[in-house]
Order: sequence, then C-alpha cells, then structure tokens
Amino acid sequence: MSDYILVIDEGTTSTRAVLFTADGTAVDSCQRPLTQHYPQPGLVEHDAEEIWNLTLACAQAMVAKAGGADRITSIGITNQRETVVFWDKRTGKPLAPAIVWQDRRTADNCAAMKAQGEEPVVQAKTGLLLDPYFSGSKIGWALENWPQLKDAGAHLAVGTVESYLVYRLTGGSHISDASNAARTALMAIGSGGWDDGLMDLFGVPRDILPEITDCAGDLGTTVPEHFGGAIRISGMAGDQQAATIGQGCFAVGQTKATFGTGAFVLTQTGTTLRQSRHRLLSTILYQLNGERHYALEGSVFVAGSLVQWLRDDLGLISHAAETEPLARSVPDNNGVYLVPALSGLGAPHWRSDARATISGLSFAATKAHVARAALEAMAHQTYDLKTAFAADGADWAELRIDGGMVANDWMAQDLADMLTIDVERPAFVETTALGAAMLAAVGCGLFPSLEDAASMRGGVTRFAPMLDAAAREARLAGWADALARVLQ
Ligand code: G3P
Repeated sequence: MSDYILVIDEGTTSTRAVLFTADGTAVDSCQRPLTQHYPQPGLVEHDAEEIWNLTLACAQAMVAKAGGADRITSIGITNQRETVVFWDKRTGKPLAPAIVWQDRRTADNCAAMKAQGEEPVVQAKTGLLLDPYFSGSKIGWALENWPQLKDAGAHLAVGTVESYLVYRLTGGSHISDASNAARTALMAIGSGGWDDGLMDLFGVPRDILPEITDCAGDLGTTVPEHFGGAIRISGMAGDQQAATIGQGCFAVGQTKATFGTGAFVLTQTGTTLRQSRHRLLSTILYQLNGERHYALEGSVFVAGSLVQWLRDDLGLISHAAETEPLARSVPDNNGVYLVPALSGLGAPHWRSDARATISGLSFAATKAHVARAALEAMAHQTYDLKTAFAADGADWAELRIDGGMVANDWMAQDLADMLTIDVERPAFVETTALGAAMLAAVGCGLFPSLEDAASMRGGVTRFAPMLDAAAREARLAGWADALARVLQ
C-alpha cells in the first residue's frame, strides 16, 4: 500500500526531504547543509553534484523510513529559484558551477541592457525587471565565459534546480515547471512558452532549455535504481510559490511572506496577469491543466541571512534564537537602525550597488540594540513592500507568515505592529514543503484541486497590532531616514 508523499525541498542553504501522510502530517524529515561558494565578492556558486548527492541521500533516507519505494504515492519537488545548473545530457553530470540567485556577476550587463531601454520590454513579457537576480543573464554570461559549455555542443542542458533534479531522478527527462520557468526572464509568462526575443536578448539558444510543464500531473518517474523501485513525480514549484500554496492563498488578495534566507512576499492575483507599476514582480504562482494563476511578488534579498551574518561573521550572538531575548531586553532600538543591503537591495528599490549600514550608534548602544535593529529591519522592509503593493492596488488585509525566522514571537508581533494588520503563523511553519506535498497530492489524484488539498493545512496563531501610533510613526521615520542615506 502507498501511504506517503515524499517532498524534496532543495533550498539555498540546505537540502531536505520530508515524508508526509495524505492528511498533511509531516512524519519525518532529513536535512543536510549545502556548501556556499563565494569565489569573489558578489559571486555565489553551488556545486550541482553536491546538490544531487545531498538530495539523493536525503530522499533515500526517507524512502527507507517509509518502508520502501512502494510505500510512496508520489514525489513533490520544490527548490531555490533562478539558480542555474549546466549539465551534460549524456551523463547528467554538471559541466560548471551552479550560479546562485544571489550572484551579482551580471550586474553590469543588466545595467547596460537597461541603459539601452530594454527593461520595459522585459517587464511586459516576463513580469520581471532587468536585474542579475534572474536566470537569463546568468545563462548568457556562462555561455560566453565557460568554454566547456560551448564544447559540449548539442549535449549541453541548462535548467533551474528542479529541472536538473528531475533530469537526474528520471534519467533524462528535461522539463521545468511553469513557476520556475517564469523566473528565468526567458519565458513570456502570459503565453506560457520560451520567447524568441528574450532568448536573443540574453544570448540563450532554445535547444539547451527544458520543456515547460504544469506544476502538477504526471511529471515523470524515477529510475528504479535510486530508490529500489520507480516512484512517480507529480508536483513541482519554486519554493516561494510552493509556500504560497502551503499557506492556502487561493483567493485573490491573499498574501504570504516567507522569512528564509531572503524574504519573499507573494499576493495571489488570480488568472489575470497584472503588471506592477511600483517595482514589484509579476510571476506565475502555478499552472494546472495549462491554466496559469499569477502572483505579485516583492523579493527582499536579506532576511535570515542577516541573523546568520551577525552570528557567523560578527560573532555578536552564538545562536539565532538569542535575538528574541536580546530584542525583548531593551524597551526600544535606542535610535539604532540596520539597513540590511548586504547583497544590494531588491524590491522595491532594485539597487544592486547599495551597501548595508548600521546607523545611530552611540556609547549608549549595546548589542541588544543592534540585534533588535536587525529584527526590526524585517518589519521595515516588509512595510516598504506593503506600501508598493498598496500603490499597485493590491494592499494586504492580513499577512500569513512562515520560514525559519518566524518561530521568533517578538518578530511576528513586530510585523503586526508595524504593518497594522493581523499576522497569522501556521503551527506547521514548513509551508514550502507542505505546498509541494499539496501539488503532488493533486498531481497524483489524491485531491481534485489545490483548494481541496488545503485540508492538509493545520492550525494557526494570530498576532494582532498593539503598538501605539506615535511609537510606530517614530520607527518608520527613523527607518526612512536610514534607508534614504543608503539609497543616496
Ligand atoms: O528566489 C530565491 C528563493 O527561491 C530562495 O529561497 O528559501 O532558498 O531562501 P530560499
């Protein structure tokens, strides 16, 4: 009897496999950290062979826990988006480092294309902006600079991380789901296919790209040797889209924010593609039976990685969890503001040249104030996104939060206080994995629709705004001032 859905969640800093029952209970998981390579300032790479080995090891551990491949109904895959992998079609082996979404090596190329007036065309077709964040400029750069990719000729395959994993799991199926393809800047997201003009602009030939598929359905079958039996793959989505599904944002206007490595806010906008006029992104939330649902997205590059930096590079704290008691130990930020532009600023500013600051320091400032300023920066950045969403006519009535950082009650309350809306946190915060499980469950016929699969979701905790207006206004003014100096 098949009992479980196996989710592979390949994130920026770790790879995980999670075993779910059909009622949405996560019964077991396996997690392995992924090595980050920083060959030069601004460059971020992963070893795609390591990604594969960790993924396979975690998935095999979960299949063993389940009692064998025949106990797994299907696999759902979710992944860090925009990161690109280059591999040999004959072996599935990587031909070059994977270029990670945070990598800024194409900043100058993107700026040059922008100066030539290309951004409005790119935005109209892709919903994205001309920024090194997206895959297209990364692929074009690699084809120009890594000769082994040219040498591979017709054997070269390129794809985002889910595409690469499916290739290796199935032994040669080269596909990418629409939610991931939408992040390459090579897909016209209104029509659902690769776009000739965009491929020309970024210098990417069509024959190295995968076929674009739905996010659920018969997406492939694993070769038997990986798990001691074949398992079908029936769900696939980028991690932020999967989290939006896992948070049950199915009605237009429903919004989630995931505070992981970065912070990503997505608002469901239904089946109509809407263009932002305030530097947000339009993206495919999911595609089912050829029908696309869209979202508006605000992408903030630094969230949990800020706390990691305070811990690993500044040595200010020993554990991320210390930030909560530190923030609570002082009545306010004492004038200290942290603008976390450690890898430039994403939405709504899109300034890859911006650099982080800690301002307002005096001898009265302690590490508690700096830790508090770091947590407050999460609400400040989210407030700026909310303002942009509102200006685009898509204000949030409430916010559903998830991701590693939101275990911090102080931060959850601060979000409610600064946004002046209710903030809802699910009891099970691994909504990315849950969303992939929901897609897989729909794709293999366990539920007729994602709305039905929402029964897999559990309870929530709500945080209501409590801060008085004057204190909130003072905070926002201090943040605006600190941000203005960074953006100068
Ligand atoms: O767009 C980048 C995003 O998909 C990364 O997500 O969870 O790995 O920080 P995460």
